[in-house]
Amino acid sequence: MGIKIVSTGSYVPDRVLTNFDLEKIVDTSDEWITTRTGIRERRISEGETTSDMATEASLKALKGKNPDEIELIVVATATPDAFFPSTACKVQSKLENRKAVAFDISAACTGFIYALYTADSIMRSKGIKKALVIGAERFSKIVNWKDRTTCILFGDGAGAVVLKESEEEGILGFDLGADGSFGNLLYVPSVGSNEEYPFYVRMRGNEVFKVAVRTMVESAKRVLEKTSLSPKDIDLLIPHQANVRIINAVAERLGIEASKVFVNLDRYGNTSAASIPIALDEALRKGLVREGSTVLMVAFGGGFTWGSCVVRL
Ligand code: UT7
Repeated sequence: MGIKIVSTGSYVPDRVLTNFDLEKIVDTSDEWITTRTGIRERRISEGETTSDMATEASLKALKGKNPDEIELIVVATATPDAFFPSTACKVQSKLENRKAVAFDISAACTGFIYALYTADSIMRSKGIKKALVIGAERFSKIVNWKDRTTCILFGDGAGAVVLKESEEEGILGFDLGADGSFGNLLYVPSVGSNEEYPFYVRMRGNEVFKVAVRTMVESAKRVLEKTSLSPKDIDLLIPHQANVRIINAVAERLGIEASKVFVNLDRYGNTSAASIPIALDEALRKGLVREGSTVLMVAFGGGFTWGSCVVRL
């Protein structure tokens, strides 16, 4: 038996914050943000919590199917509603599911790949038939709106996939890793540290950029090798949506042509753990991929953490 992504869903808040809006908040310009990042606008929660967005994305992914069939809920998030209960428990309650094991995963922007890996492993080892894997973030709450080097980058949203036991194999392989020695280049402190509240995203962007490109390329190459696939076998590359210059550099080094690379950060910015599942859902809805397509997902984030996964839809 195999495991397959059988459906997807996503949710972003209605409120759009454009680069021109940001020009009124910090010393920046649409021209700087567009050229350096590719981002034109992002969505900002108007009260929707991370678990609200995660639940909306899940309901879309469930497509009217009974939520009680779900035996496992894993939410990747760096912006949970609460320290506890977990966002996954809140989603379970909002879905009125009474059966699922539910917990969160913390791996920053790589969170969705880590969550997929965890859910896939648990399903195979414990014989679980159906799981929900979600990436959901409300980064607008943890950026310092006075810091132009970070506040222009992030947005809010959620994406979800339903994983199901299936005859055909849909999860072809993973490559995951971490290097905690880079922790101080990109982090958000919390109550266990000695840092003062309020806790905001801190990032040495330029240094992160260089490691991100190298690491995403190496990880993608390793997962292709593990799955005995070549870049030409990939129908769509879905990279974490942090910066279009990172995405272009990764695609070029992998030898994947631009028409096979999914980009939506111009509309959503960096939604951290939500970026890949939102992108996968959009790619399916736009018909860029369909049942049978081979998709390479690759992410990089705070930790540093990284991860790649090849799926056959
Ligand atoms: O999602 C997880 C991983 N995160 C990432 O992958 C993000 C990786 N990093 C990046 O995407 C880029 O490094 C940034 C977009 C954050 C920054 O772009 P950059 O080309 O690396 O710019 P920089 O940090 O080297 O800054 C260049 C200049 C600086 O001015 P000086 O020192 O040259 O006078 C900054 O102060 O741009 C200035 N600057 C800005 N100017 C206008 C920084 N932020 C802004 C801004 N508007 N928002």
